[in-house]
Amino acid sequence: MLRFLTAGESHGKGLVTIIDNFPAGVKIDEDFINDKLRLRQSGYGRGARQKIETDKIEFLSGVRGGLTTGSPISFFIKNKDYENWRDRMDPYKSVPEESKIHTPRPGHADFAGSIKFGLDDIRNVLERSSARETASRVAVGAICQILLKNFGIEFASAVLNIGGVGVEADEISGEKKKKGSELNSDPFALNLIDLFDEVISRNIKNSELRMLYSEHEEKAKAFIDKMKAEGDTVGGLITAQVKGVPVGLGSFTQWDEKLDAQIAMSVMSIQAIKSVEIGAGVKSAYLKGSECHDSIYCGSSGSFYRKTDNAGGIEGGMSNGEIISVTCAMKPIPTLMKPYLDTVDLNTCEAKKAFLERSDVCAVPAASIVVESAVAFSICYFFLKKFGGDGFAEIKRNYDGYCKNENKN
Ligand SMILES: Cc1cc2nc3c(=O)[nH]c(=O)nc-3n(C[C@H](O)[C@H](O)[C@H](O)COP(=O)(O)O)c2cc1C
Repeated sequence: MLRFLTAGESHGKGLVTIIDNFPAGVKIDEDFINDKLRLRQSGYGRGARQKIETDKIEFLSGVRGGLTTGSPISFFIKNKDYENWRDRMDPYKSVPEESKIHTPRPGHADFAGSIKFGLDDIRNVLERSSARETASRVAVGAICQILLKNFGIEFASAVLNIGGVGVEADEISGEKKKKGSELNSDPFALNLIDLFDEVISRNIKNSELRMLYSEHEEKAKAFIDKMKAEGDTVGGLITAQVKGVPVGLGSFTQWDEKLDAQIAMSVMSIQAIKSVEIGAGVKSAYLKGSECHDSIYCGSSGSFYRKTDNAGGIEGGMSNGEIISVTCAMKPIPTLMKPYLDTVDLNTCEAKKAFLERSDVCAVPAASIVVESAVAFSICYFFLKKFGGDGFAEIKRNYDGYCKNENKN
């Protein structure tokens, strides 16, 4: 069973990650991983922290001569900012009373975390609950993508809107994906988005906010600027897609073996993600059965296909061969630069304003890369479950054998 663990604090020395049960013989492309890490750090609206860090993966084990060995993969991502926090993050030096935090920020792990662990300094919670941890998850997702690329499985992600500026939530459904040329003639009829389409992927690549349309980007930037000036923050809507997934990843036989359920858990576990939809998602509730379900056809080559994709590529907890699409909402960043939110001192019960800590105004573009990575892990988990073997060649044999017979199963 593929699994991973992460450790590390936001301002500690760095992040340590262990991936267990990753097969041997997979050629590791370090540039691909570092590029995903760079994208996680970028995007309009990020705080000063991102100017300090240039995240790079440093393998500690499990990779030799450019190939995975089958042993646990471990890697380190350094926090350059640690130099500025050495004193406060030292494992032995005692923490001066005046630097302790007792006022939990609403919307963060601060309140429940410090009560749960009985901590008298909220920094012990916020250091670990911080989304700095998502750098580990992005590297794990990139390693999963490297394996899956060998089997024609590709991933893409984009920002649909920033605080409602961009594609409206009710314009999105999982109907059959539209090509960029069609979208250009009617750019706001966005029922259908194929993130792999050439025009759309170029738009995303050229956008500082990873948005589908440049006309949305300027407005969204202006909105972020306004939020920044007001000392406020903003969230947004993200989509991620996977293409080339063979029929039958995941299972209908047990609740926790369902692909959609595992994707939902992976994505929902990302800091600040508050909803996960597969395909038409919430919109399914408003459709008739005859409108919602994706009719099945067989082409002249004997392969099955659909004309719509409201199911988002998953039926009965299994991939059905169509594009898998996931849409999720990110809430606004909970650390605000002005004291809007009320809180209390946990020691004295005194009414206070939530404390200010250097922070992002908007991290939706970064989160889109994290979402893509989380989905990549879930797909890889089920891919290895289905075709698993200890080494790449064995997996390839299993995959090829299954795909030859896929339509006959
Ligand atoms: C990529 C990314 C960057 C984030 N940056 C910040 C930040 O700078 N400041 C902050 O307060 N929260 C930030 N968050 C959100 C918090 O980490 C998150 O809201 C908090 O841990 C509480 O978790 P919850 O929102 O899932 O309940 C970020 C989240 C992501 C995904």
